[in-house]
Amino acid sequence: MRKKVTVIGAGNVGATTAHRLAERGYADIVLLDIVKGMPQGKALDLFEASPVVGVDAKITGTNSYGPTRNSDVVVITSGIARRPGMSRDDLLATNMSIVKDVTAQAVKASPKAVVIVVSNPLDAMCHVAFEAAKLPAKRVIGMAGILDTARYRSFIAEELNVSVRDVNAYVLGGHGDTMVPLASYTTVAGIPIQELLPKKRLDEIIDRTRKGGAEIVGLLKTGSAFYAPSAAVVEMVDAIVLDQKRILPCAALLTGQFGIKNLYVGVPVKLGAGGVEQVMEIKLTPDERSALRSSARSVKGLVTDMARINKAKAAQASKAASAAKRAAKRTAQKTTAKKTARKSAAKK
Ligand SMILES: NC(=O)c1ccc[n+]([C@@H]2O[C@H](COP(=O)([O-])OP(=O)(O)OC[C@H]3O[C@@H](n4cnc5c(N)ncnc54)[C@H](O)[C@@H]3O)[C@@H](O)[C@H]2O)c1
Repeated sequence: MRKKVTVIGAGNVGATTAHRLAERGYADIVLLDIVKGMPQGKALDLFEASPVVGVDAKITGTNSYGPTRNSDVVVITSGIARRPGMSRDDLLATNMSIVKDVTAQAVKASPKAVVIVVSNPLDAMCHVAFEAAKLPAKRVIGMAGILDTARYRSFIAEELNVSVRDVNAYVLGGHGDTMVPLASYTTVAGIPIQELLPKKRLDEIIDRTRKGGAEIVGLLKTGSAFYAPSAAVVEMVDAIVLDQKRILPCAALLTGQFGIKNLYVGVPVKLGAGGVEQVMEIKLTPDERSALRSSARSVKGLVTDMARINKAKAAQASKAASAAKRAAKRTAQKTTAKKTARKSAAKK
């Protein structure tokens, strides 16, 4: 039977992911968004390209979860970007509720799926999706490390004027300023990067990698990167659907590896049909290890922020419920008083 991949959120990242997957031809694709007509239009457009591209994938656009049923992989790209005047907490609260809702609905329709989380803030959204999905952690995985590593590899290849294919590297940690590019695992056709680039220049490239997302936002002005992110997502989907057992940097729930517990952090994993089949606990230098731990602390900070937001939401909901109860009681008392007044007036 043909494989099926659902992409939730048909915006820039979601639609380009669907485009790349459609051209792979190995799976049927469902593109889902809340905007009426938009995923249907994009899916139809992609389908109409298939005779030219020469693939037979079925591509469906939808606003409901019925057509997503029994997907092998679900990619979550739905969410909003930070708007002017919006605090980090506002963004976190909005995307938390979107990711929680879409994950629960998608997994209900596809209980055997592997879920790939893309929505930002990535590491925090992995925690939200993991809790909402109620699936084993190996089947809820975040995409960030492949993208961050691809940026790092591109900049090094450009600097040395070599093929991007010959640059191997890892960027680990959280998806943000605290990401950890590993110089000790950066090689060009097996040659350690330290033999090819002075430390100062490598540090500049590492700095540019850390700010890679912001560099694109600064140029685009109205959105964030999507070509490289969708390429990274599809590398993960390939590994899962084709059971490739690739070793790729992904956000995985750690259970003590690298001295980190109960947190989603970017680490090298073996990715195959079952999702994360193994966390590769590679050796790190003392500096890299402490940078990874400090990156994990910033993920922990987001998790704590989310717990605080949830507590505040629960307190607000219970306050609103009590106010509604009091109002209902007042209305009932008034109605009773009116009835009593009417009765006593009738008696007179
Ligand atoms: N992890 C990474 O490395 C990485 C890289 C790039 C982008 N991102 C993140 O991916 C997300 C998507 O980015 P984008 O550029 O495609 O944004 P976008 O605004 O173009 O698309 C987001 C889409 O989600 C949809 N959506 C919102 N709520 C929904 C819901 N409840 N159900 C279904 N669809 C819903 C919107 O209608 C919109 O079409 C953002 O959170 C972005 O920050 C992450």
